[in-house]
Amino acid sequence: MQDAREWLRSARSVAALTGAGISAESGVPTFRGAGGLWKHYRPDQLATPEAFAQDPVLVWEWYLWRRGLIAKAEPNPGHYALASFERRVPAFVVVTQNVDGLHERAGNRNIVKLHGDIWKSQCLNCGGEYADDRTEVDALPPLCDCGGMLRPAVVWFGEGLDDGVWNAAERAVRAADAVLVIGTSAVVYPAALLVPLAKESGAKVIEINPDETPASGLADASLRGPSGQILPELLS
Ligand code: OAD
Repeated sequence: MQDAREWLRSARSVAALTGAGISAESGVPTFRGAGGLWKHYRPDQLATPEAFAQDPVLVWEWYLWRRGLIAKAEPNPGHYALASFERRVPAFVVVTQNVDGLHERAGNRNIVKLHGDIWKSQCLNCGGEYADDRTEVDALPPLCDCGGMLRPAVVWFGEGLDDGVWNAAERAVRAADAVLVIGTSAVVYPAALLVPLAKESGAKVIEINPDETPASGLADASLRGPSGQILPELLS
């Protein structure tokens, strides 16, 4: 903890790579591990383009259910610690795999959303992307004004990441003197590639996670515990 605090104090540029674990203490379920969504639901039936083509109503029901959970959640002390840190470091970027929007609700402004945003929908016909905070919809699947079918504006398994988004994530990591890896199992690609990239570009890598992950071997420091407790201490 003392070493990591020192690295952060002297850093001019910092990136935070976040995953579902940072929202766990807000009551948003993670994907893997005890109580994880993929213990009860099959990703190939809910989070792939093929699943959506086969049964858009089922996929929408699952996303509306998750929106409902997230709508009831509040950012936790881990999110707030990152928001206050952004105001104190010359350059700070949150690169998140989360779609829940809790980083911006906590006050972060510089956010790269690798996997999209559950609070947006995209039209399969005209390509338009719209803010969409509905947690209930009368007739599923919801339709665009153009008549096309809407889908959640998130990245599914088997889909590529947006080039501009990925480039922004790479730039943030390459520029960083220190990279925080928070609450991610670091098994989903390409997001997980950002950890070795951080290492290769010479950043100090600080992992915050109660459990060991494939990223742990690359970390200069591993702080074991819930991010809602560790981040306020690390970033104060
Ligand atoms: P995972 O659910 O795979 O991993 C959550 C991580 O958070 C685990 O390593 C836990 O040990 C850790 N964790 C749990 N509670 C924590 C706490 N209180 N504080 C800190 N860490 C905690 O979530 P992601 O790595 O984000 O993608 O998953 C990556 C992607 O896989 C997601 O974006 C999603 C999913 O399938 C898609 O849907 C495309």
